[in-house]
Amino acid sequence: MSRAFNFSAGPAALPEPVLRQVQEEMLEWKGERASVMEVSHRGQAFIDCAAEADHDLRELMAVPDDYAVLFMQGGATTLAALLPMNLAGPEQSADYILTGHWGEKALENAKPLLQTHVAASARDSGYKSIPLRDQWQLTPGAAFVHYTPNETIHGVEFFDIPDVGNVPLVADFSSNLLSRPVDVSRFGVIYGGAQKNLGPSGLVIVIVRKDLLGKHGRNLPPIFELQNQVKNDSMFNTPATFSWYVVGLVLKWLKAQGGTSAMEQQNRAKAELLYSKIDKSGGFYVNSVDRVCRSRMNVPFMLPSADLDKPFLKEAEAAGLLGLKGHRALGGMRASIYNAMPLAGVQALTDFMDDFARRNG
Ligand SMILES: Cc1ncc(COP(=O)(O)O)c(C=O)c1O
Repeated sequence: MSRAFNFSAGPAALPEPVLRQVQEEMLEWKGERASVMEVSHRGQAFIDCAAEADHDLRELMAVPDDYAVLFMQGGATTLAALLPMNLAGPEQSADYILTGHWGEKALENAKPLLQTHVAASARDSGYKSIPLRDQWQLTPGAAFVHYTPNETIHGVEFFDIPDVGNVPLVADFSSNLLSRPVDVSRFGVIYGGAQKNLGPSGLVIVIVRKDLLGKHGRNLPPIFELQNQVKNDSMFNTPATFSWYVVGLVLKWLKAQGGTSAMEQQNRAKAELLYSKIDKSGGFYVNSVDRVCRSRMNVPFMLPSADLDKPFLKEAEAAGLLGLKGHRALGGMRASIYNAMPLAGVQALTDFMDDFARRNG
């Protein structure tokens, strides 16, 4: 076995006990004499498996009863378009807060569907900080405010939930879902792709306050009408059964670890270790994000010269540290340290960084 510590931004590392269970159950699942991928989503075994994942997610996030939880296909990007369609009519407006690449993408997907307004943006300063709340120019009567609590590429994370009054807050939690406790009742919608903190790609989790749906006045194709997924327990059409099953196992693993509070403690410790290594490297490694909003999930950092990027990545791989190449938009490195990354993985990374800096500084 040569499994390495995997710092990929997504699809990302999964907990090893989960992978082992998947391996064990691959040929025969739950006495079905077939794998989970080969049985009907309408059969009792899968319905029970789906309901258990729903129950565990609700418990882990303390989801109030007036919210629906959906396990849908299409990834977060599809939801960035489906949500505006479902939350407002074409004449209504929505505010977007931009703190990085994914907020911009969400905005682009909403533009054809309703009146969009950028209420705050850190674009001009290279997405290194969060615009101060009192400088946001929110539109009175907007249908919703959209923001990205963790920007996966720029490494910028909100640690407080912004106060936007009575306007529903819509949040793309793709890269920090379940990494710490979150008060769901403060949101209109929480959504996030599974492939970072929760499981394989192919699934997007949506937690939506039910009273917000069905008021858009649009004539939508039934498959785009989120209420149809709510009414059919996310089985209006065939769901991504294998991904749903694996997410269910990850949720059980999370519960066994102590839930989101335990995850927060561990994620804090991992991030502190890595940022302090960067900050104490005498300028060899640089992360230029404002300290108050440095992401605990995705840590971008630069080396003193781009010429060192290739040797760094090659030697890191040889040392069993994978997926460290930064996003092409920023260059440099990025370490994604989601829930499934143990502290030992970050320790191995910082030991390697020390050694590399000593030899190349
Ligand atoms: C914050 C955020 N939003 C959206 C996406 C896009 O997700 P998907 O590829 O599932 O559509 C990503 C993927 O990396 C992301 O990190």
